[in-house]
Amino acid sequence: APRVFSGIQPSGGLTLGNYLGALKRFSQMQEKGTHKCIFCMVDMHAITVWQDPAALTRSTREVAAFFIASGIDPERSILFNQSQVPEHAQLAWIFNCVARMGWMGRMTQWKDKAGKNAEQASLGLFAYPALMAADILLYHATHVPVGEDQKQHLELTRDIATKFNHDYGVDFFPITEPVIEGTATRVMSLRDGTKKMSKSDPSDMARINLADDADTIAQKFRKARTDPDPLPDDYESLSARPEAKNLVDIYAALSEQPTDKVMAEVAGMQFGTFKPRLAELAVEVLSPMSAEMRRLMQNPDEIDAILARGADRARAIATPILRRTYDIVGMVGRQ
Ligand code: TYM
Repeated sequence: APRVFSGIQPSGGLTLGNYLGALKRFSQMQEKGTHKCIFCMVDMHAITVWQDPAALTRSTREVAAFFIASGIDPERSILFNQSQVPEHAQLAWIFNCVARMGWMGRMTQWKDKAGKNAEQASLGLFAYPALMAADILLYHATHVPVGEDQKQHLELTRDIATKFNHDYGVDFFPITEPVIEGTATRVMSLRDGTKKMSKSDPSDMARINLADDADTIAQKFRKARTDPDPLPDDYESLSARPEAKNLVDIYAALSEQPTDKVMAEVAGMQFGTFKPRLAELAVEVLSPMSAEMRRLMQNPDEIDAILARGADRARAIATPILRRTYDIVGMVGRQ
């Protein structure tokens, strides 16, 4: 049966990039009803770089609340946090022994995050993609909806599954399909159209946070970097104008319109007119969601109960798959 898995790091607030690249697509997949959906707050991934403990706790609950506020139903889908299902760490160890150092060293996210100071990076940061492969393969997930930036990690997941199957002479782990489709699979920084919008960007003006209030959202779009020309009438000519293209993509994704329809609407428009429209649309979509997130956060016990129940359901799927993996590897278990 087709099964969806995806994860989000609870390492600070979520951005519009996380929403358009991930959350929004997650609830669309849930609504399609054709796939069992499993969604995870990957707190063990988050601590590959330093996280203040109280902030990690808060952020885990907040991301869970955003999942629910964006339409994930924790009854129809499974919603949980990674560290409550120890099988993730157990399978990750096996994959640490399957994956090669060279594969990990080629990951662009590793190179970006560790930079020139790899000696000082955590071992966990280096092994990060093996844990990610474990997240996915522990459920035999077939489809993984993500933003463009996770593509390389998903290719590595396929490499790990292939090598495991080959080394042990089995056809056990599925070769997972990344699901990266539509507009805004890579939302860019509002200050630099060649850089990804990221929660770790030092400038808060570079991103829209899902928790930003209406005035902040309007101000950030108003100050977003653009070129001086009005908007063209064809989408293709935006390819040489990354900042303009980014804003158009955001508009298309938020309004759920194909880009040619958006171009017909905005052709010849100045940014002075377009930006307030975009901000208004963003507020219309994001405000109800952040209000619902805040409402849910008033009851952290309820969120914790949802996560505990999600972890039980996740474990029910994960346990037999891990047990079978141990058997394949030849680890003696108790009967
Ligand atoms: P993370 O926490 O950085 O981001 C969560 C999701 O949001 C997407 N995303 C974006 N999409 C479009 N534009 C952007 N600017 C943007 N920024 C973030 C990401 O692509 C991702 O889908 N390694 C993963 C978490 C993870 C995971 C997994 C994902 C751990 N295990 C298993 C899928 C399956 C990460 O750091 O995502």
